[in-house]
Amino acid sequence: MKPPVPIRAAVEKMRAYNPPLEGRTKKLRLDFNENPIGCSPKVRQALAKLTSAEICSYPEQETVRRQMARHFGVRPDELLLTNGTDEALHVIVSTFVEPGDGVLLVEPTYAMYRFYAELAGARICAPRYTAEFPWAEALRLLASGAARVFFLPNPNSPTGNLLALPEIRRILGSAKQTMVVIDEAYFEFSGVTVIPWIRRHANLIVTRTFSKTAGLAGLRLGCIFVNRELAASMRKSQSPYPVNAAALVAAEAAMRDRAFIARTVREVKAGRQQLERGLARLGVRHFPSGGNFVLVYFADRAKKIVAALDRKGILLRDRSSDFGGEGYVRITVGTPAQTSRLLRELEALL
Ligand SMILES: Cc1ncc(COP(=O)(O)O)c(C=O)c1O
Repeated sequence: MKPPVPIRAAVEKMRAYNPPLEGRTKKLRLDFNENPIGCSPKVRQALAKLTSAEICSYPEQETVRRQMARHFGVRPDELLLTNGTDEALHVIVSTFVEPGDGVLLVEPTYAMYRFYAELAGARICAPRYTAEFPWAEALRLLASGAARVFFLPNPNSPTGNLLALPEIRRILGSAKQTMVVIDEAYFEFSGVTVIPWIRRHANLIVTRTFSKTAGLAGLRLGCIFVNRELAASMRKSQSPYPVNAAALVAAEAAMRDRAFIARTVREVKAGRQQLERGLARLGVRHFPSGGNFVLVYFADRAKKIVAALDRKGILLRDRSSDFGGEGYVRITVGTPAQTSRLLRELEALL
């Protein structure tokens, strides 16, 4: 049926984003970079104590925002709570991007940058990632002022590339007319952060998530760090209740349980090393990673390997389409026991 009002051209032009969303819970999920252990038991206890009053009232976030600011070492007015990083990206685009404005991405990268930019009717500038910095084309585009926003995850997914602080400083220096968004979704595994720079750089926005190390992907909680003047403007493009009551209660418990975070980081780092060694032993090409995942190259066997492992109950993420040819698969790092299982199955297949 034809609607009486035309669908916006930007939406008509977009390709539907179809990640595998269903039927994952019973499998070994090494496909979405979630926490392989789960969440802290203290989070589950806190959720069990949610009162009826908390559930039936609109959520109040001020107390948690203050705790979170203390946790991350910023002032409360430099922090916005968001419905996952995904909402943070939407808020950033809504604040800075008019239809036809340039948005810079270095691809392959996290798909939602392109998604929200296209939704806003932006012009996408997308040079390709190379392992070696400086990226001439991206820096040229930044210097020319062609982009309003530059989305840059550090480390990048799916490649795992990690930029060092001097490289990010150089990017910020080139971006005189561009907001640079450093997405630190995998910070806990890389240890590289620029949150302390938000007061010095008017063009810097940092995002973080509770989906990865804290294991709260199902509750959708992220945050934006930015200087206080911009934070106030960006807050205007958010709904009054972006974060739900369960996520707020869970965040409090997650921040308090530092031992759980430390255990996750320890297990993932051990798993990453074990996975890299195992892949090397099996002769599988792979790339250095600063995150909780490793990009591997299975050449023309990629599809078959991903499908065969799926049948064994192990999910990996085929990223071949990002690279324009078959072969590239992203593997989330599991615990050492999960990694052993994966390597056993892989060895049998290879
Ligand atoms: C670079 C990057 N940023 C953000 C996210 C998603 O974060 P959130 O779950 O908070 O929306 C992901 C998820 O895979 C990611 O890879």
